[in-house]
Amino acid sequence: MHCHIQGEEKNLWMPLTRWTVFGFAGVVLAFGIYRSASVWTGRKPWKPLRTRLAEWFEQRYQIAEPLSKVLKKPVPIFATHWLYCLGGITAFLFVVQGLTGIMLAFYYKPTAAEAYASIQFIENEVKLGSAIRAIHHWSANGMIVMCIAHMLRVFIMGAYKAPRELNWVSGVVLLILTLAFGFTGYLLPWDQRAFWATTVGTEIAGSIPAIGNLALIFLRVGWGVGDLTLGRFYGLHVIVVPLATVAFMLAHFLMVRRLGVKKPL
Ligand code: HEM
Repeated sequence: MHCHIQGEEKNLWMPLTRWTVFGFAGVVLAFGIYRSASVWTGRKPWKPLRTRLAEWFEQRYQIAEPLSKVLKKPVPIFATHWLYCLGGITAFLFVVQGLTGIMLAFYYKPTAAEAYASIQFIENEVKLGSAIRAIHHWSANGMIVMCIAHMLRVFIMGAYKAPRELNWVSGVVLLILTLAFGFTGYLLPWDQRAFWATTVGTEIAGSIPAIGNLALIFLRVGWGVGDLTLGRFYGLHVIVVPLATVAFMLAHFLMVRRLGVKKPL
């Protein structure tokens, strides 16, 4: 008989599959016997495992009531139209960006010497690496498009008027942060396009009256685009901008919850 236990490193999937299938059948059988026996001896209907688990947590955290207030808020029927989903789609794409961004960060190296090669490694060697990178790329574009579409919907419907002014203001900050994600992420592949786009982009920041030089030096960490610039952009892209976005999104959502979505005219 083929023996993987004696160190033969061939056909390892077969024993694994066999153990999984028979092990699972064994667990199902044992559970069935336990369930029947406990109903029979206890003379009470069987309580599903998820109910038991929920009760166990509820006894300790007592969270069901506050949670149901949050989760069971009814949505007015007019707000189920797709035009009212644009903000939610933007938020969903932000979550996609977070998840795929974490996956990319496992392999990406933010130094001038290694950045380009690490992107090539993600593209060519990492399993599903090119797919994850493509999702990060397209979802970034989608987030900007959806954010602007959402802003137009809010503007056209006049939903920015009192008492929703702060929703508009926090929205403007969110739009700037969304664009900042794009701007800081663009440098990270460290190829010709990234380098020159950042050179031009930071020059534009440098032409701001009075504080231009300060903005340029803050972004480039010096006068030229180099290793330090890459580190600065990476820090902004993965820590500062995401944290600020989460904070402003919380404020934005809290206000939508408090005031509700504006009724159409
Ligand atoms: C990351 C970007 C953003 C996210 C995730 C987001 C998310 C949301 C969500 C989920 C809603 C609930 C209603 C709906 O979706 O239409 C909403 C409402 C609102 N948003 Fe945004 N938003 C973003 C950007 C913006 C921008 C750029 C503006 C405007 C400059 C804005 C202004 C508003 C206003 C005024 C409301 C209240 C609308 C109403 O009551 O009908 N938001 N946002």
